[in-house]
Amino acid sequence: MTAIRATNLTKRYGRTVAVADLSFDVEPGRVTGFLGPNGAGKSTTMRMILGLDRPTGGSVLVDGVPYRDLRHPLRKVGALLDAKAVHGGRSARDHLLAIAQSNAIPAGRVMEVLETVGLREVARKRIGGFSLGMSQRLGIAAALLGDPEIVIFDEPVNGLDPDGILWIRTFMRDLAAEGRAVFVSSHLMSEMAQTADHLVVIGKGRLIADTSVAEFIGRSSQAYVRVRSPRLAEVAELVKVGRLHPDHLRVTAMTPLEIGALTARAGLPLEELTLVQPSLEAAYMELTKDSLEYSS
Ligand SMILES: Nc1ncnc2c1ncn2[C@@H]1O[C@H](COP(=O)(O)OP(=O)(O)OP(=O)(O)O)[C@@H](O)[C@H]1O
Ligand SMILES: [Mg+2]
Repeated sequence: MTAIRATNLTKRYGRTVAVADLSFDVEPGRVTGFLGPNGAGKSTTMRMILGLDRPTGGSVLVDGVPYRDLRHPLRKVGALLDAKAVHGGRSARDHLLAIAQSNAIPAGRVMEVLETVGLREVARKRIGGFSLGMSQRLGIAAALLGDPEIVIFDEPVNGLDPDGILWIRTFMRDLAAEGRAVFVSSHLMSEMAQTADHLVVIGKGRLIADTSVAEFIGRSSQAYVRVRSPRLAEVAELVKVGRLHPDHLRVTAMTPLEIGALTARAGLPLEELTLVQPSLEAAYMELTKDSLEYSS
């Protein structure tokens, strides 16, 4: 069963169209990265998934039903939206206990999730004194309380140190490996390249791509095949679509397999046949440049 399904999802705030006719699926067992420039509509989409905001049009279903129809929402979906939006006076343990109690989750689960996120030692400390990293971990602990099949994280690595970023990355990969659906927004492309299997990319509220990371990078015009051969001039003539450089040929319109088959048939030897791909960041910059709300 598809974990999250958005169909023609639309949200307007007055004259601002935050989300426009957006359709995509989030599947279990993988990390789906949710990317888009500032103001693209990522947080708004996440709020609508969680029933915190009403769509102006279209719909979004969680495990086949609207969020508000889930019998035990926290046991189905866990979310971290804004890590700082917690009551500062309480201890971490009391904060989670309150959530557990109001959602019919056994109290014993509280120390379990605090252990999972590495906050066991500070369970009785006031949240108000927590660092940003600790707050993020606490938010993740809250998301995990109901042992949900689906987790939604809105920029969970914002402001974290390299150790915290590595921890969250590994953690999200583990959740997906357990068969859960992980839906995570981020602005850090190098980070997403290492974490996500699948990408939903939006710009100005509209879908730009819903594809695997590899395929998204492959769409960039900066991807090319580098061909080297002791008989390069003949290869260039045969391939036609390549750009000849002093010691190699760059081909953008063909796959390595197509080039290899062609040169093999002609009996031309190859020294190198490499698919050179841009980074996710470079592909992202290219493919979203027309949908920047605030451009520098
Ligand atoms: N409560 C609201 N009232 C009015 N406009 C809003 C509201 N919430 C969001 N918007 C507008 O909707 C658009 C999408 O905002 P949203 O926060 O969803 O973007 P985002 O992709 O999460 O951006 P960021 O990467 O900066 O977090 C923006 O133009 C924003 O100003
Ligand atoms: Mg946001």
